[in-house]
Amino acid sequence: MGGRTGTLLPLLLLFMQYLVIPLTANDDFNGLLSLQDELKNTPNWKASADPCDNWEGIRCTNSRVTSLILTSMNLMGKLSSEISQLSELQTLDLSYNKNITGQLPSSIGNLTNLINLNLIGCSFSGSIPDTIGNLQQLITLSLNNNSFSGRIPTSIGRLSNLYWLDLAENQLDGPLPVSDGNTPGLDMLVKAKHFHLEKNKFSGKIPSELFSSNMVLIHLLLSSNFLTGNIPETLGSVTHLEVIRFDRNSLSGPVPSNLNDLVNVNELYLSNNMLTGPIPDLTGMNNLHYVDMSNNSFDEFDFPPWISSLESLTTLMMENTHCQGEVPVNLFSLTNLQTVVLRNNRLNGTLDIGTTYSNQLQLIDLQNNSIESFTTRAKGYDKKLILVENPLCENKVESYCMVPQSKNTSTFSTLPNNCEPVNCNLDQDSSPNCKCAYPYKGTLFFRAPSFSDLGNPSYYIDIQGSLMKFAQSHKLPVDSVSISNLFKDSSENLEMSIQVFPSGQDRFNRTGISNIGFVLSNQTFKPPDKFGPFYFKAMPYGPFSEEYIESKKQSSIGVIIGAAIGGTVLLLLLLLAGFYAFHQKRRAERASDQLHPFARWDPNNGSGGVPQLKGARCFSFEELKKYTNKFSEENSIGSGGYGKVYLGTLPTGQLIAIKRAQKESMQGGLEFKTEIELLSRVHHKNLVSLVGFCFDQGEQMLVYEYVPNGSLKDNLSGKSGFRLDWMRRLKIALGAARGLAYLHELANPPIIHRDIKSTNILLDEHLNAKVSDFGLSKPMGEGEKGHVSTQVKGTMGYMDPEYYMTQQLTEKSDVYSFGVVMLELITARMPIERGKYIVRVVQTAIDRTKDLYNLQEILDPTISLQTSLKGLEKFVDLAMRCVEELGGNRPAMGDVVKEIENVMHMVGLNPNAESASTSASYEDVSKGNSGHPYNNEDFKYSGSFPTSKTDHQ
Ligand SMILES: *[C@@H]1O[C@H](CO)[C@@H](O)[C@H](O)[C@H]1NC(C)=O
Ligand SMILES: *[C@@H]1O[C@H](CO)[C@@H](O)[C@H](O)[C@H]1NC(C)=O
Ligand SMILES: *[C@@H]1O[C@H](CO)[C@@H](O)[C@H](O)[C@H]1NC(C)=O
Ligand SMILES: *[C@@H]1O[C@H](CO)[C@@H](O)[C@H](O)[C@H]1NC(C)=O
Ligand SMILES: *[C@@H]1O[C@H](CO)[C@@H](O)[C@H](O)[C@H]1NC(C)=O
Repeated sequence: MGGRTGTLLPLLLLFMQYLVIPLTANDDFNGLLSLQDELKNTPNWKASADPCDNWEGIRCTNSRVTSLILTSMNLMGKLSSEISQLSELQTLDLSYNKNITGQLPSSIGNLTNLINLNLIGCSFSGSIPDTIGNLQQLITLSLNNNSFSGRIPTSIGRLSNLYWLDLAENQLDGPLPVSDGNTPGLDMLVKAKHFHLEKNKFSGKIPSELFSSNMVLIHLLLSSNFLTGNIPETLGSVTHLEVIRFDRNSLSGPVPSNLNDLVNVNELYLSNNMLTGPIPDLTGMNNLHYVDMSNNSFDEFDFPPWISSLESLTTLMMENTHCQGEVPVNLFSLTNLQTVVLRNNRLNGTLDIGTTYSNQLQLIDLQNNSIESFTTRAKGYDKKLILVENPLCENKVESYCMVPQSKNTSTFSTLPNNCEPVNCNLDQDSSPNCKCAYPYKGTLFFRAPSFSDLGNPSYYIDIQGSLMKFAQSHKLPVDSVSISNLFKDSSENLEMSIQVFPSGQDRFNRTGISNIGFVLSNQTFKPPDKFGPFYFKAMPYGPFSEEYIESKKQSSIGVIIGAAIGGTVLLLLLLLAGFYAFHQKRRAERASDQLHPFARWDPNNGSGGVPQLKGARCFSFEELKKYTNKFSEENSIGSGGYGKVYLGTLPTGQLIAIKRAQKESMQGGLEFKTEIELLSRVHHKNLVSLVGFCFDQGEQMLVYEYVPNGSLKDNLSGKSGFRLDWMRRLKIALGAARGLAYLHELANPPIIHRDIKSTNILLDEHLNAKVSDFGLSKPMGEGEKGHVSTQVKGTMGYMDPEYYMTQQLTEKSDVYSFGVVMLELITARMPIERGKYIVRVVQTAIDRTKDLYNLQEILDPTISLQTSLKGLEKFVDLAMRCVEELGGNRPAMGDVVKEIENVMHMVGLNPNAESASTSASYEDVSKGNSGHPYNNEDFKYSGSFPTSKTDHQ
């Protein structure tokens, strides 16, 4: 007997496990297994028979599964209709699994206990099943960012407990359903506070029956649809409303006057419609922060005086609205005012911003109006002012008469918390606490922030702080959060990349990711009020297991082995192809268009790539068009004599800066080819690297890596929100000097930059210097008037006087300009400021017998308040040698590098500290093409995840 129990006991126990589970719970078990059958990458549940026994992603109440949360798990496949077996389910969240496809099964309607249904950012298609109306307990329904099509099922009107309805960014069409006797409609959702329906294909009128005074709606987002007709008067009865977005539709007719009753509205967007009649009077909207009425067909009107009484106003957007008359001076004294955009109107008279203008004011854009004069009664408005295309700008060269160089963006990104940045392996990233880990990455989209000044870092420090505080109070396993890459996208959403770093380990487990994904998908996290409604889009998270890491390693080994084997086969193929090509080539050459030296080069033909182009990719015009949102205005981040610079996003998510030559500044095809050949050979960590080019459809474009933290100039002027201390300035000087020395001494042929200045030295995510725009200055020919004048204007103050007199260009001209930049680094003054030339100012003030050479007065206060400015005198000596009258008396760049390194040793800094892992990029191209680390196949960006926009000029 004893022996038999020995073998039976485990069996019995296993059996008992099933026995103790109530029969209904077996449905849970089966439901989950069916789910697992149709979805790849679910957790490994089969280990135990009871789903309530710590299955990942699952929570139970009374031995029944009540919550299933699998966010960002790379789930792949379809949602099984057997999901309906989980009959006690209250929360179902499969958000951020882009590879869940197919329909939402209609059996979802059997889950009548559901409270939260979140399927954000998957790839569901087909229609939303009518059975959704059976989910009477539902509080949140978030189906946004999928591919749902068809109409909103009218049954949604039966979800009488619904608080949150988000169907945004789908392909839904038809009218917005409202109830009529028999069929329910959206108007019945009187507990709902959120209707987020933007970016679909809804059409027809906004039904007047949709709104009533019973509603408690606070966020009504209908932008980017095909809605027509009038704004219904009934809207005025929904007095709880705080955010209204009707922009980017085809609404017409006059705006109902009772809109003014909506006294709680903070953000109102009526822009890009066809509204007519008088401009709405919003006198009553005392809480209005952000108003956009641009691009409508209102009757001609004089600038409304009541606007100046909107005490909370931060942002007034009234572009192209038939507005005329004078802009009243008291507008600018609204204390919170940040942005005033009144382009393309008929404003006239004198622009006067008065003596007490808002100290938050960042932008006044009055391009293309009829303004005749401009007075600043108060000195010192130095923020952006745009008056180009007004009578007062005729024949003027003031900066406010120029086409603006950059968009309203932020260069903010989280910096290390007092720790030395680390270089991480594989696909890990460095956390703000300088630990290497696999962060959970994604983007927060703020749909209607109440502010427009993206340059104020306090906003982001706020949100970062609130994310951290939230994570701590909810006991989420989070070490730190970094944010970066902030900008307004083409739908006026504020986008912000976040990285959430795990605490304790270097990666999250599934439970950790589910918990974080859910607080963001279910809106449990509430950002500070001024950010308004948001949604989150996560990137898939992979590193749950060692297998993932191993697979990463193996795939790279695989590529190497594959390449080696493939190489032999390729060689044979190439030989064969060679014979064929030889015959074809002659024919092609004859036929080839002489203007297009790449016409016969097919970049997709991997074997026959043009060998001279190291590391640079050839992009088609269509590709770049796609990556820049059709070269939209929103993506334009700068312009200059040569044309415009656009920000683009590669499919990998990486950002690029694209220089697009305008017709007048295009070169011959051969010259262009020579140039990209030259640029593509230049690789150095202190030079902005060329990613590729486009020579297609008559366009010439250069594609560069995007450098996130703006120019040295922006950083010195404090525009970016960083304080550069003396040590950091030394590192920047050293980086820029190394980049230049490489161009002069190691590049083959040597390259003279010709346009060294603080706006051409960009700072990467660790504030290391990268020199940009090298090799781009061209001899300026006749008939390039615009080009010449901007060039001269841009480089005055940096220009080598010897070169200016003799027209003889040498490397020493760059050395001169670099000397000026060094002086800028210590004084934070522009080279020519208030008529004074920085070189003269320092020469006059210098007294080598005194401490700090007696330069305290002219040093940048940011560093002069620092306790130790060790090495400053040596640095000044070096700068003064660089700006010697005669080139022959100036040091070579290589010597400049050595001397800055010496200064750093004096200060106790190791000049090679951060370059250890990347020193390989300091390479000698003169050794020829073989063995170059980059080629078309495995080209990688040298920068890590780019963070934000900047001026690329
Ligand atoms: C998963 O989705 C991504 C992006 O939508 C796609 O590129 C990828 O091919 C998909 N993977 C599979 C296995 O379908
Ligand atoms: C699901 O609900 C439908 C009615 O909506 C019903 O006919 C069906 O039997 C239910 N299925 C399950 C598995 O409960
Ligand atoms: C400005 O325009 C208004 C309306 O068109 C006109 O009445 C007024 O005289 C103009 N003022 C000036 C200074 O031109
Ligand atoms: C997941 O991670 C958390 C904290 O990081 C830990 O407490 C928990 O035990 C882990 N769960 C599993 C199943 O490993
Ligand atoms: C999810 O969100 C809804 C609506 O805000 C809320 O009632 C519910 O408590 C949240 N669920 C959890 C588990 O936090």
